[in-house]
Amino acid sequence: MEKILDIITAKMQQAFADAGYDASFGRVTVSNRPDLCEYQCNGALAAAKQYKCAPIQIANAVVEKLNADDYSMIEAVMPGFINLKLSGHFLKNYLEEMRTAPDFGVQKVGEGKTIVVDYGGANVAKPLHIGHLRPAIIGEALKRLHKFLGYNTIGDVHLGDWGLQMGLIIAELHERQPELPYFDPDFTGEYPTESPFTISELEEIYPTASGKKSDPEFSHKAHQATFELQQGHRGYRAIWQHIMNVSVADLRKNYDNLDVHFEKWLGESDADPYIPEMVADLKARGIAVQSEGAWVIPVTEEGDKKEMPPMILVKSDGSSIYATTDLATMVQRMQDWQPHKMLYVTDKRQNLHFEQVFRAARKSGIVGAETELEHVGFGTMNGADGKPFKTRDGGVLRLEQLITDMTDFVRGKVVENKIVSEDEVEETTRKIAMAALKYGDLSNQPTKDYNFDMERFAAFEGNTGPYILYTIVRIKSILAKYGPWEHLPICEPANDYAKDLMLSITKFGPAMEAALQNSAPNQICAYIYELAGAVNKFYHETRILGEENESLKAGYIALIALAKNILETSISLLGFSAPEKM
Ligand code: ARG
Repeated sequence: MEKILDIITAKMQQAFADAGYDASFGRVTVSNRPDLCEYQCNGALAAAKQYKCAPIQIANAVVEKLNADDYSMIEAVMPGFINLKLSGHFLKNYLEEMRTAPDFGVQKVGEGKTIVVDYGGANVAKPLHIGHLRPAIIGEALKRLHKFLGYNTIGDVHLGDWGLQMGLIIAELHERQPELPYFDPDFTGEYPTESPFTISELEEIYPTASGKKSDPEFSHKAHQATFELQQGHRGYRAIWQHIMNVSVADLRKNYDNLDVHFEKWLGESDADPYIPEMVADLKARGIAVQSEGAWVIPVTEEGDKKEMPPMILVKSDGSSIYATTDLATMVQRMQDWQPHKMLYVTDKRQNLHFEQVFRAARKSGIVGAETELEHVGFGTMNGADGKPFKTRDGGVLRLEQLITDMTDFVRGKVVENKIVSEDEVEETTRKIAMAALKYGDLSNQPTKDYNFDMERFAAFEGNTGPYILYTIVRIKSILAKYGPWEHLPICEPANDYAKDLMLSITKFGPAMEAALQNSAPNQICAYIYELAGAVNKFYHETRILGEENESLKAGYIALIALAKNILETSISLLGFSAPEKM
């Protein structure tokens, strides 16, 4: 569907032309004085300079040419503004079209385009901790938003499954169980299919090994094991496969719990086969140059204000690093998927890394000009006191624990307020907890740090997830009392609150597009908070079920039903859903 601004701009341009002025002056904007009007056009002021006459004279002439049916108010005011309010008739038609169109008539701006969203970024053999919350839910929301606006979306978790942590585990395992066949160079048989460790053992092995990094002998062993693994050592590959199986199953479970789902479970190891050819090519073309024994890609550009160190491609000991695998991953993605865009969601402390990799990708031609590259670097989630989140003993909080804490807190409220019957407590609690957690995070601008405040996030009032759910549940209960509502048509607004609600509804498509343009899920939150506010205002000021005029009542019901559907769609983009009762 065409946006309202575009529709009324076109009409305004026609009016300028009909009045004998250049159509380009007819641009309409949303009013910055909502007390006076809804939309405005300031074109007469600019036109006056060109036509050398008073702006108000032009404004008056243009106003004469506008179709009075479309507006409840058209005013030319000094010195030459044109102020507009939409007519109920216009709004009714527009909303009726939104109600019946697929996905409320949003423009599918991504039609025919593929986007890779690289998010999650979990590391195998390490449990997800609170630092993994933001990449998971911001990435998931951005992916869902792109899909909703027509993109073909590929979400890739890009596992950290290839670095030193693998060598550390292998070295530690060797110290504990040297008799395992993986360490026997003469072993030629089939390795066991059963893993030598469980997930909880692995979660103990890794930190123990990691703690021994400062021991030079152990560290050397771990580096050597990493190197041999990457060279294809048969036994180490088999251990690596066990680590992957055990760890990925656990990660899947955790991401499922968060309702975060990846199309691809690829990782740094999957980029490895692309590295030799890529490196040889970059060397041959002189893109990579030698520097202190390493191979690097210089990425400074003219006009750089800050220092831009070269991207390290191959370290002096011959090994590849994080940047190497990211560049090789781009080779794979371009080859297999030809995306129009690659979007990376990570902590903003990785800004420099992505800047270097993006520049190297452009310079080398690995990613051509027709593919957009974007890094969404997000800020830190701190504790309620604004300090970095720590467990009581100073450790990093597990993501599972954070979810459990929020769930327990919400369950307390659900039980205390006797919201639902006993058998529905868990399901309702889970939905409210997800809303609290995700909305609490996503309503912040991604780049900003924010404080995780359980009580505030889980409050049923204010700008929170549960408040949005509450609004939806309230509408659902009115609809249930009314009876079948699915096919009721939209009516003209009968009061100002209905009109405000209708105006809010019309902003849905533009708001989603803006959120996509800016990679800003917080703009989805801002939109639904406004819409929920308009719903509640309308609800408090209007007798809906008590209305005696049946057709007016039906119109009210159609209106709140449309608002509910839009709210539900919006929260599904954010990755949560509403319960039946609250
Ligand atoms: N595993 C990485 C980390 O823990 C995040 C991966 C992000 N994605 C990427 N393509 N580099 O920091």
